[in-house]
Amino acid sequence: MKHFFKNKIFISTICLAITSLTTLFFINRQKQPKDTENSNNSPDESNEEEENKEEPPEEKESSQQEQPSPEEHKPESQREEQAPSQNNNSPQNQAWALILVNKQHGISQDFGIQTTKIDGIDVDVRIAPHVLGLIKMAKSQDINLGLCSGYRSIMTQNQLFQREVDGLIAKGYSRSKAEEEASRSVAPPGTSEHHTGLAIDCYSNSQKNCNLVEAFANTSEGKFIKENGSKFGFILRYPKGKEHITGYIYEPWHLRYVGEKVAEEITKSGKTLEEHLAIA
Ligand code: DAL
Ligand code: ZN
Repeated sequence: MKHFFKNKIFISTICLAITSLTTLFFINRQKQPKDTENSNNSPDESNEEEENKEEPPEEKESSQQEQPSPEEHKPESQREEQAPSQNNNSPQNQAWALILVNKQHGISQDFGIQTTKIDGIDVDVRIAPHVLGLIKMAKSQDINLGLCSGYRSIMTQNQLFQREVDGLIAKGYSRSKAEEEASRSVAPPGTSEHHTGLAIDCYSNSQKNCNLVEAFANTSEGKFIKENGSKFGFILRYPKGKEHITGYIYEPWHLRYVGEKVAEEITKSGKTLEEHLAIA
C-alpha cells in the first residue's frame, strides 16, 4: 500500500512537471512571435520614424530651398506685375496710346472710340485733359493755341483726300499721280491717325482759318508745341526729313498723343513712332 502511494506521488509529480513544462513551452511560444513581430516591426517603425523625422526637415529644406528663389524673384515678379498695371493705369504709358496707324497699318474695322469736344473739335476722351493742359499752359504764356482737327471718320477723311486729289487733277496731274502726290500730305481714307482720336492739328487762334503750312513751325504756337508737347504726352508725328519712314511731309502742326513717358523718349531721340516701335 505504501509502495502504491509512493508511486502515485511520483506519477503526480511527473504529471505536474510535464504540465508545467508544457505551459512554459506554450507561454514561451506565444512570447516568441510577439518579440519577432516587434523585432520585425521595429525596423519599419524606425524607418517610419526616420522618414517622419526626415520628412519635416526635407519639407523645410525644400520649402526653404524653393521659397528663397520666389523670394529672390519676388521683387522682379512684383515689378512684372506692376509694369502692366502701370501700363493700364498710368496716363504716361498706356498701351492704347501706342497704336500705330499709317499707310501700312490701317485702322481696324471694329475700332471703337469715345470722343469729347474741345472748342468744337472731337478728340478721344482719354486725351482731352492733356489737350486742355497744353492749351492752358500756352495761354499762360500768352500763346493762343487752337485746334483745327481731331477725330475724323473714314468718310470725312475720304472727302479730304478726294478734295486734295481733285485739286491736283485741276492743276494738270493724272489721277494716279494726283493720288500719289495727295497721299504725301493727306492720308488715304482708313489710314489716318485722325481716325484714332489721338491726333490733333494745331493752329494759332489769332488766324482766321486753319492754314496748315510748314511756316507754322516758326510761329509762337508752332514753337510752343514743339517745345512743350511731350510734357503733355504729345509728339510731332511727322518730323522734317522723315517722309521715307512716316510716309508724310513735315507737318509741324500735327500732334499725336503717345503718353508722357514715350513722348519724352521720342522727342529726345528724334525718332519717329515707327522707329520707336521698331517697325520702320
Ligand atoms: N495729314 C495726316 C497725314 C492725315 O491726313 O492723317
Ligand atoms: Zn493731322
